[in-house]
Parts: sequence; structure tokens; C-alpha cells
Amino acid sequence: MRFTIQSFLEAKAKKEKITMLTAYDYSMSKIIDEGGVDAILIGDSLGMVVQGYESTLEVTLEDMLYHCKSVARGAKRAMLIGDMPFLSYHISITEAVRNAGRMVQEGKVHAVKLEGGRSMVETIKAIVHAQIPVMGHLGLTPQSIHTLGGFKVQGKDEVKAKALIEDALTLEEAGVFGIVLEAVPEGLAQLICEKLHIPVIGIGAGKYCDGQVLVINDMLGIYSDFTPKFVKQYANLKVNINDAVSNYIEEVKTQRFPEAKHTFSMDGELLEKLYEEKRRQS
Ligand code: KIV
Repeated sequence: MRFTIQSFLEAKAKKEKITMLTAYDYSMSKIIDEGGVDAILIGDSLGMVVQGYESTLEVTLEDMLYHCKSVARGAKRAMLIGDMPFLSYHISITEAVRNAGRMVQEGKVHAVKLEGGRSMVETIKAIVHAQIPVMGHLGLTPQSIHTLGGFKVQGKDEVKAKALIEDALTLEEAGVFGIVLEAVPEGLAQLICEKLHIPVIGIGAGKYCDGQVLVINDMLGIYSDFTPKFVKQYANLKVNINDAVSNYIEEVKTQRFPEAKHTFSMDGELLEKLYEEKRRQS
């Protein structure tokens, strides 16, 4: 059975931890869906880990739609949440609703995620009014990287901690079904989780969150340009891939690949006839 926004709320009520990972393509989506993850986030982190940009700001709505569609074809059980990219929900509320609608209609996601606190309330309400579930994203919001001055822990002083609490309560009131809380001290994240009735999915926000999310390329050790403190590497696929590529090069150069089992055969007489013609022509 598909994990839904009701499953999110039930998990919070039953104190069951929610698991979420990012994916950007069909094959990975299928693997992690079969692995049993509750939700798959098609994150705009794709700008960094798939497209090779320095931030998420370059990602377009068309990019997101392409990757959402690919992921959707691979997942049968997980709830699919698509990130609204930079500028797709900032210009006007009308545009935000239209773009969120495209994410659902064309991208086949079940919900959208957008970054920001109180300033996003009217936008969130309008998208929710269009029957599109919205997930919030507070704390370190990578689309505000230039305003925040870098990838830094958020909510450490009293003013910022109180602002974060206020933002979380306001988003809940506006109708989001959950909030991603990124790079926030554990104690503050715990307090926010206790105050809210909706689940808080942490990334760099400690163990008391109602669930956790990680970027798949980080946790599998594929993306090595920059590894935040909060990432746990559950595998080191970069090493495995390097080994596989070296073995492949070695075997091709020394003619150990391909072997008979990788090769197609044909009728011997026909082949001899073709060689005979070749000899006559030369
Ligand atoms: O884009 C993304 O992958 C995200 C996660 C870091 C939560 O927003």
C-alpha cells in the first residue's frame, strides 16, 4: 500500500520514525522503493549531485519535471515529494499554484516541498487549496544560500531560534503536512517536534525528529565534492565504481572481456561464405 500524507500523520501519532531518501532517476527509485523507504524526495539537490552545479539555484522547473517523471516510474509504494525549484513559487501565487500543479499533473508526484517560513504562508495556503499537499522546509534552506551566507547551522541564537519555532507553527497552521528541518541544533529540533502535530523530518537536526531524510548520493558515497557533518555514509560506492571501471579497462585492454557467454554466434557456413567473398574482393 502506498505511503500517503495520512500515513505521515499516523506515524507521528504512533511515534513511528519516517524514512525518506532522495532519488533522481528510475533505477535508484526502484531500488530504494523496493528497499521499503516511506517517502522519496525528488530534491533540487539534483542541481549539485546530478547536474554538478555549486548550489541548487540553477535547477529549473523543467529539470524537476524530467526527474520527477523518471522517479515516479520506479516507485510503487513510497510517497513521492517533488521540490519546487528556485523562482517557481516566488514570483506570484498564481504561478506557484500552476507550477505545483505541473509537478503533480506532469511530474506525477503526490506532494510538493517548498522552502521558507512566514513569508510563504499565502503561497502554501493557495497550493493546499488546489488540493496539492505541501511539505515545508525550514532551517538551512539551500535556495537562500546567498542570504544565509553559506551552508551553516541555523537557529543557534535566541532570536533565530524563536523565529524558527514561530515559522514552524505558522507553516503547520497554513496546512503543510510535514516539515523538513535542516541543520538545526538537536535540542531546538526536539522542541519544535514536540510543539507540532505534523511530522518533522530532520536532516542534520538530530535523533528526536519524527523522521530522517538523506541525499542518496551522500549516503551511498557517490558524491564527494562536499560532505556535510550530518551525513552518514552507509556505503562507499565511489570506491566500488572506481574498482569496477579499472577492472573493465584492464579486461578490455587484455581481451579478457567480452567472453563467449557475452557474445552472439551465427551459422558457420554463412560466415565462411562471407569470408570467401571478402577474399575475392581484395
Ligand atoms: O533537495 C534536497 O535534497 C533536500 C533535502 C536536503 C532535504 O531538500
